Amino acid sequence: MSENKFYNIITYGCQMNEHDSERLAGMLEEMGYQHTEDFANADIILLNTCIIRENAELKVYGKLGELKQYKRENPDLIIGIGGCMMQQDEPVDEVYKKYRHVDLIFGTHNIHHLPDLINKIEETRDRVVEVWDQEEGLIPDLPSQRESEHSAWISIIQGCDNFCTYCIVPYVRGRERSRPVASIADEAARLAEDGVKEITLLGQNVNSYGNDLEKDVSFPKLLEELNKIEKLKRIRFMTSHPRDFSDELLKQIKNLDKVANHIHLPVQSGSNKVLKEMNRGYTREYYIDRVKKIQAEIPNASVSTDFIVGFPGETESDFEKTIELVKELEFDMAYTFIYSPRSGTPAARRDDQVDDQLKKERLNRLMYLQNKISYQKNQKLIGSTQEILVTGASSNDPEVFEGRTSTNKICFIEKREDLIGKIVKVKVDAAKSWTLEATIIEE
Ligand code: 5AD
Ligand code: SF4
Repeated sequence: MSENKFYNIITYGCQMNEHDSERLAGMLEEMGYQHTEDFANADIILLNTCIIRENAELKVYGKLGELKQYKRENPDLIIGIGGCMMQQDEPVDEVYKKYRHVDLIFGTHNIHHLPDLINKIEETRDRVVEVWDQEEGLIPDLPSQRESEHSAWISIIQGCDNFCTYCIVPYVRGRERSRPVASIADEAARLAEDGVKEITLLGQNVNSYGNDLEKDVSFPKLLEELNKIEKLKRIRFMTSHPRDFSDELLKQIKNLDKVANHIHLPVQSGSNKVLKEMNRGYTREYYIDRVKKIQAEIPNASVSTDFIVGFPGETESDFEKTIELVKELEFDMAYTFIYSPRSGTPAARRDDQVDDQLKKERLNRLMYLQNKISYQKNQKLIGSTQEILVTGASSNDPEVFEGRTSTNKICFIEKREDLIGKIVKVKVDAAKSWTLEATIIEE
C-alpha cells in the first residue's frame, strides 16, 4: 500500500477516455493513492490521450512540456502517458525520445496492467513502455473512481469495425467486442444500489452491440433488460451509427420509460458523394428518413449530430448539401469539426485536401447556422415542463445549480443543495442556444 501518496490524471478526448480515466483512478485508489489537484504535490501524474484530431495531439505535447518542471522539482514523480495516441508508433517514438521525463507509456488495451507497470517502475526506476498492438478480448471489469455520485458511464462495447476513411479509432481501439448482458446488468444494478440515478451506455457504435455475441442479444434487448432495474431512473447511450439505427431501437426509446429522449446520430456530411467516400454506409436520403421518423414517432425527442467540414475533395456544392440538410432537419445541437488528416487512414493519403482557410470559413458558416437553429428550438421550450436530474453547482457560477433534461439540455435552477441527485420537475423560463433557465415546480 502507498500511504499518503497522491495522483492526478489529465484526460483528453471522448467519454470513452473519461471513463477509462475513472478506471485508472479506481486502480490507483485501490493501491492507496489519493487524488490531488496540485501537481507539485503529486507522486503520479497520468495523461490519458486522444488522437482523433491533430489539435488533441498538440495539446498533449504542450502539457508534457509543462510537466517537466514538476519532475525537476521532484525526481521521484512518476509521469505516465496512455490512451489512444500511444496506440500509434510515431507518437510513442516521439514521446520516448524527446520527453525523457516520461517514465511510463501504455496503451488502450492494457489499462488493467497499470498497477503492475507502476510497481515495475518503483522497483527498477527504469522507463517502462508497454503497448499492445491488439486487444486481448475485453478489458476486465475494473474498479471506478467515479466523477459523479448520481450519474455513471458503463462501457457496453469496445472498439469499432466501421473504418470510416477519416477515422483513426478502429486502429487505436481495435475490433468490436461486446460485453455480456449479465455483466452490464450487474454493474448497472450495483450502481443503482449505490445511488446512481442515470447511466450512460458507451460504445463507438452502440447499435452493433451484441453482433459478436449470441443470436438473440441486441442493443434494443439490452435496453429492455436495463429498464427493469427499479432504482435506476434514466438510461442514456452514445454513439449511434445511422446505418444501424433500427425501427426496433426507435420503438424501445419510445416505449421504455427510463430511456432518455435524446439521440446522438452523427451524419458527418449532407453530400452523397462525400458520404460514400467517407465509407459511412448510408445516403443523405436514408439519413433524412431516419431523423424524420424519430421526429414523427417521438415529437419531443432531441436529435444531435456531428459534422466534419473540409473532407478531401469537398466542393462548395457538397458543403451546400450539408447546409441544406441542417436547415431541413433542424438538429437540437451539433458538434462541428474541421477535417484533420490522421496518418494511416485512407482519406489522409488523398491529394485533394481542402485549403485550411476554406475549411475554417465552412466551419464558421455551419456553426452560425446551427447556433441560430439551436436558439430557435430552445425558445420553443419556454413555458414547457421538463424533468431534470440535478447534478450540483454550475461550473461557471457556484450560486447557480444545474441539471440535464431527458433531451440532454443543460438547465439552470436556483441553488438547492437538497435536490442534488434528484429528478425534479421544472418550468422553463428562458433559453439560449445551449442552455435553459427554469423554476422548480415539483420536487
Ligand atoms: N477529423 C475531424 N473530425 C473527426 N472526427 C473523427 N475523425 C475525425 C477527423 N479525422 C469527428 C467525427 C466523429 C467525432 C467523434 O469526431 O465527427 O463523429
Ligand atoms: Fe475517444 Fe477516439 Fe479520441 Fe480515442 S481517439 S479518445 S476513442 S475520440
